[in-house]
Amino acid sequence: MIDGKAIASELRDRISSAVAVLKEDHGLIPGLAVVIVGEDAASQVYVRNKTRQTREAGMNSYEYKLPEDTSEGELLGEIDRLNNDSNVNGILVQLPLPEHIDESAIIAAISPEKDVDGFHAVNSGRLMIGENGALVPCTPQGCVILAKRHLGSDLSGKHVVVIGRSNIVGKPVAMLLLQENCTVTITHSKTRKLEEICKEADIVIAAVGRAKMVKADWIKPGATVIDVGINRTTNSDGRAKLVGDVDFEEAVEVAGGITPVPGGVGPMTIACLLRNTFKATCHQNNISGIDV
Ligand code: GUN
Repeated sequence: MIDGKAIASELRDRISSAVAVLKEDHGLIPGLAVVIVGEDAASQVYVRNKTRQTREAGMNSYEYKLPEDTSEGELLGEIDRLNNDSNVNGILVQLPLPEHIDESAIIAAISPEKDVDGFHAVNSGRLMIGENGALVPCTPQGCVILAKRHLGSDLSGKHVVVIGRSNIVGKPVAMLLLQENCTVTITHSKTRKLEEICKEADIVIAAVGRAKMVKADWIKPGATVIDVGINRTTNSDGRAKLVGDVDFEEAVEVAGGITPVPGGVGPMTIACLLRNTFKATCHQNNISGIDV
């Protein structure tokens, strides 16, 4: 079992120490602005956790809760204000947005240097060409850290099968792993013989959003399984339950290492968001040499 909760907690401790050094030596406190539009229940929980953990790490957190009927223009105005606020080093607009707002227009409006989600085209481009200084999406960073904690820091030559091709996880995690010298196969809903391809993988990254889709017989014995899925289902007794994209009870018998849901990738995502906020703050102030 790969304990994401414990690994994320260690990372947050390192970030807290780095934040203390930044404050002591440079008089700077990183600030993260989180913007949420509307009442999506899952998003509210995520945002609450982000705010709490930002403060626990010694950073400033600014939360903007906008009503469901906020117009695209109003949201763009808010982002413009945050882009120009020097107390704000990172900006995160919680997704999904209400349907009347164009998500890509919003992401494009965030200053790339404050884009701690790493979703802006400038940051995806930097990641793709392997340029230093890219703000890299948080969940993919978390996946790579977990894989390395289980397999050691050298992933070169490993065959990774990524299931899912989203801009948030599938595509960026594939780019990160390519940089780690992995052989990367990206699969998706139109992939033929997905099971067979998956069974070739040394590392499986499941990021499709379909509950328990990946079964034990898709997994090569001893393979490392990183489960990004967070699917809300109901138990046989009618209670709400979170499950991943991997059938954990089955897969745990075959895998060499596997992340649970919850307690795997989820906590890593927020820890990496704090890391990005810290890095963005250093970059914006031309400070180097404090590593996290
Ligand atoms: N919604 C689900 N995951 C994410 C994320 O990583 N960032 C943002 N902004 N919204 C999300």
